[in-house]
Amino acid sequence: MKGVLLHGGFGTRLRPLTHTGPKQLIRIAGKPVSQWALEDLRDSGVRSVAIILGELAPERVVEYYGDGSRLGMRLTYIYQGYPYGLAHAVYITKDYVGDEPFVVYLGDNVLVEGISNYVKKFLEETDAAAMILLTRVPDPQRFGVAEFDGEGKLRRLVEKPKHPPSNYALVGIYFFRPPYIFKVIEELKPSWRGELEITDAIQKLLDRGLRVEYAIVRGWWKDTGTPEDILEANRLLLDYKYKEKTIKGEIDDKTRIEGRVYIGRNTKIIDSVIRGPAYIGENNVIGPGVYIGPYTSIGDNCRISNVELENSVLMDNVVLETLEQRIVDSLIGSNTVIQRKEKKPRGYRLIIGENAVVEI
Ligand code: TTP
Repeated sequence: MKGVLLHGGFGTRLRPLTHTGPKQLIRIAGKPVSQWALEDLRDSGVRSVAIILGELAPERVVEYYGDGSRLGMRLTYIYQGYPYGLAHAVYITKDYVGDEPFVVYLGDNVLVEGISNYVKKFLEETDAAAMILLTRVPDPQRFGVAEFDGEGKLRRLVEKPKHPPSNYALVGIYFFRPPYIFKVIEELKPSWRGELEITDAIQKLLDRGLRVEYAIVRGWWKDTGTPEDILEANRLLLDYKYKEKTIKGEIDDKTRIEGRVYIGRNTKIIDSVIRGPAYIGENNVIGPGVYIGPYTSIGDNCRISNVELENSVLMDNVVLETLEQRIVDSLIGSNTVIQRKEKKPRGYRLIIGENAVVEI
C-alpha cells in the first residue's frame, strides 16, 4: 500500500503562524504535526509516501523530510501549488500510485491510536473501492457528515450540513483502490467554494454502486486547523505519547521535576518547577523562577526566566524574560521576544505581526 500525505493548503485560520511556512510543520509535543502522521503511516507498514506540497514555503518541507531515510521511509514530493481541493490533490498522485491501493492522510490530522488497524482492514477484509473513517462528534455541522440507510450502510456524505443526518464526521484519512477514484474525480465540478471536494468524489463512487466501507474511530482524533485545535492536539499527544520522565539535559538541585516530563539535550533548568505532562526541546535555558505547568510544549533554543507557563505551545527561539506573569492557553511563534525591561516607565511596547492575538 502507498501513502499520500497532504501538506498543501493556505492555513489561513492559523495566521500569523503560517506566514512563514505550512501549518503541518508546526511542532506539537516535540514534532511537526505532519511527522506524527508520517510516523503513523510508517508504523502501519506504509513506507512509500508522496507528500503533496502547496505554495507556502514548500522547500522547507523538502528540507526537513528529505528522502525520508531518517524516518525509515521512501518519500516523493508532488507539487500541487494552489489548493484546488482534496480531490485535486489526490488526482495528481495518479501516476505515483499506479494500480496499488493507497491511503490519503491529511497532514494536519492527529489520530493518537494510529491507523494500523484500518490499513489491515482495508487490505485484508475488503475489496471495496474506498474506505472512510468516521468519528462521533458533538458538532457535526463543522464537518463532512455520513448518512446511513436502515441497515447501517453508508448512503450519502454531506459537507457541513445545517441539519446533520448523523453525528458521524469524516476523519481526514481515506483509503482508495484505483482506478475508480481517479475516474470519478475527472468528472467532478468545483464546489461553491471553488474546490474539487473529496466528499463529492466519494459520493460519486456511491452513486455508481461501488462499495464504500467505513470504520469508526474510537480513539482521539483531532484536525489542527485553529489555534484552539493546536492546544488540544498538544494535550492529546503529551498524554498519549509521553508515558515516562526522560531527562537528557541538565537540572540543578534547586529544580523540581514532577510527572511525565521530557527534557531534551543541552537544555539547562535552573531553580524552577516543571510539572508534566510537558515537553521541552533542546538547547533551552529555563530559569530561574520558572514554573511550567501541565500540557506545555517548548521548542528549541528558548530562553525563559521568571514566568509561569501552562497549557501552552512555544515554538523555537522564543525569549520570555522577567515577566513575573502567568501565561496560559497560548501559542507563541518562533523568534518571538516578550520581555519586561526594568526601570522603564510602565507600559507595553509591542512589535507584532499581522493577525496576532494578544490579551493583556
Ligand atoms: P484545510 O484545513 O481545509 O485547508 P487550509 O490548509 O487551506 O486551511 P484554512 O482553511 O485555515 O485556510 O485542508 C485540510 C488539509 O489538506 C490540510 O492539511 C491542507 C491540505 N490541503 C492540501 O494539501 N491541498 C488542498 O488543495 C487543500 C484544500 C488542502
